[in-house]
Amino acid sequence: MSLDKTTFLIVGGAGYIGSHMTLMLHELGHQVIVVDNLSTGFEDAVIGAKFIRADIHDYHNLDQIFMSHSIDVVMHFAAHIDVGESVRDPFKYYRNNVVATQTLLECMVANKVNHFVFSSTAAIFGEPEYVPIDEAHIKQPINPYGHSKLMVEQMLESYDQAYGLKSICLRYFNAAGADPKTRLGERHDPETHLIPLVLQVASGRRDAISIFGDDYDTQDGTCVRDYIHIVDLCKAHLLAAECMLREKASQRFNLGNGNGYSIKQLIDIAMRVTNKEIIIQSSSRREGDPATLVADSTLVKNILNWEPEYPDLEEIILHAWKWELKHFNR
Ligand code: UFG
Repeated sequence: MSLDKTTFLIVGGAGYIGSHMTLMLHELGHQVIVVDNLSTGFEDAVIGAKFIRADIHDYHNLDQIFMSHSIDVVMHFAAHIDVGESVRDPFKYYRNNVVATQTLLECMVANKVNHFVFSSTAAIFGEPEYVPIDEAHIKQPINPYGHSKLMVEQMLESYDQAYGLKSICLRYFNAAGADPKTRLGERHDPETHLIPLVLQVASGRRDAISIFGDDYDTQDGTCVRDYIHIVDLCKAHLLAAECMLREKASQRFNLGNGNGYSIKQLIDIAMRVTNKEIIIQSSSRREGDPATLVADSTLVKNILNWEPEYPDLEEIILHAWKWELKHFNR
């Protein structure tokens, strides 16, 4: 990474992805400021950064932060991410993921901070017409979460044209795993994501894992996802920031490993990694879930020279398992 010492504002830096990003930037010698309202994040997950508790709905507060720091790049991780919840409570998703993001972007433009890395999602594609999904795939979200992220991508296009705000949107497939040195990991409360829940069964914190639907049009009837290691995901952000500062251009990339695993396959791997029995319960489908989401990441590999260091799902689960054991033993 050839990025010179840069000042990053990490919005949502106390959450799962934001905290790993903050740690990586800190270890590379960059200056990092974290803004988080702690609605879902944890202050003790912020390592090596100045922490400011603030809400991005509050323009005045944000303005103070931009005026008192010389920020080069903003990375925005503060979003609600639960697909099922977005179907039940769409107000919450549009308010936070769209309206608050709009406030942040307006404040950036007013303060002439013109580089933005946005956490987008595979959910903007909806039910795929083909897999693996490339950037040209039609965008037709099937849940409010996906709509909220696509709206921001569209806003960013307009803001580049009108105000010269440069952005890179990274459409994550399924972020997973933990810091290989076990300093950080996935910590949602309540937890809704598959891998941590499966590992909670393995560690004895939970009795069984419910599989949401086993009648999908996939090899074993369960949903297929593309799991990407959190460290690889953060590296893509670094490369994106570097490219944006160098080229002064906005771009969008799909970000995954390109390998699809069904829920049942994942549970089998988790049983091998943990050497524990994992009890399964069949449950009905969860609203808003496409059957298969697998990334075509050719573009991010070609343009940003991104290569995953941990493409193997077994290793992704192993790192998550080490975190679960450490967390559980606390
Ligand atoms: N699942 C279960 N049981 C559970 C939890 C999840 O069967 O207890 C299933 C889900 O239905 C889904 C798969 O496991 O089929 C993965 O679910 P996650 O909740 O772990 O992840 P999602 O695929 O729903 O969502 C994640 C991110 C989103 C992102 C999406 C893109 O949370 O932000 O990936 O694929 F948009």
